[in-house]
Amino acid sequence: MSESFRMTDLRAIVAEITEEMAAAPDRGRPASYIPPLARVDVGQFGMAVVTADGDVFTGGAADEAFSVQSVSKVFALTMALGRVGDQLWDRVGREPSGSAFNSIVQLESERGIPRNPFINAGAIVVADVNLGRGRPRESVGELVRFIRSLADDDSIAVDAEVARSESETGFRNVALANYMKSFGNLRGPVEDVLALYFGQCAVAMSCRQLAMAGRYLMAGGVNPVGGHRVVSAARARRINALMLTCGHYDASGDFAFRVGLPGKSGVGGGILAVAPGRASIAVWSPGLNAQGNSQLGTLALERLAMRTGWSVF
Ligand code: DON
Repeated sequence: MSESFRMTDLRAIVAEITEEMAAAPDRGRPASYIPPLARVDVGQFGMAVVTADGDVFTGGAADEAFSVQSVSKVFALTMALGRVGDQLWDRVGREPSGSAFNSIVQLESERGIPRNPFINAGAIVVADVNLGRGRPRESVGELVRFIRSLADDDSIAVDAEVARSESETGFRNVALANYMKSFGNLRGPVEDVLALYFGQCAVAMSCRQLAMAGRYLMAGGVNPVGGHRVVSAARARRINALMLTCGHYDASGDFAFRVGLPGKSGVGGGILAVAPGRASIAVWSPGLNAQGNSQLGTLALERLAMRTGWSVF
């Protein structure tokens, strides 16, 4: 593979970006609507790049666990597609919404079918699929085991305080779930579907763990270490396409413009990005921009894509 830089430079590029982010004046604000997230120090920044050859380059707080929040929607979607395949698309769309991640407006005229699996409404339908006829505790466990196997790391777990806090304050998600239930687009009990959804959002991971877990998306559906197939190449391509078009909600266009990589953000300040054939990348900085995506995480990815030439465009 010809690169516009030498792989040996990657260590220097990651170190340089980490240093630049430490000095960045405008760090955004942490999510205020989930109390434990509001308390996180916005001074933090971490980054991990796992290459197709298995090299790992890290910078800053790359081993600090944070709340992955909506980044978990990538793994939940992968699991749901494994359970029901393309039938999922009868219940969730594949178009960017152009609205905020927690918006309810389109559901009324679109018969309770969310625009895509990454907005909250779509992820709640995905949680309903993953719940099946099971119980939320077991389903959260199943998702956590799946993520652990992707990352080759058994220490990944749910932050129970974050999960509890969201179930106490997640009124918007309760509204979305009930609204979709009224259209017949949720099969399980609303409380159980939401317990799974809140549990999955509260998974805590470090940048290193997240970048490791994303390896199958850079490698055509295969975990490059050991060659274990997670999804087909076609499915990996489609998940990447959804991350590119919908992974940053109403800022997806801006993220594609600035970074040019499939990416999924979370309000904990993490972003998982994929350079197909090249690298799985995770960044974390808890300060968010106006659309609820990590301010410095986006800037760091923009600089990484610029300096490596990894943009898919
Ligand atoms: O449901 C929520 O609002 C949060 N648990 C997740 C939202 C989120 O991460 C949006 N991403 N930037």
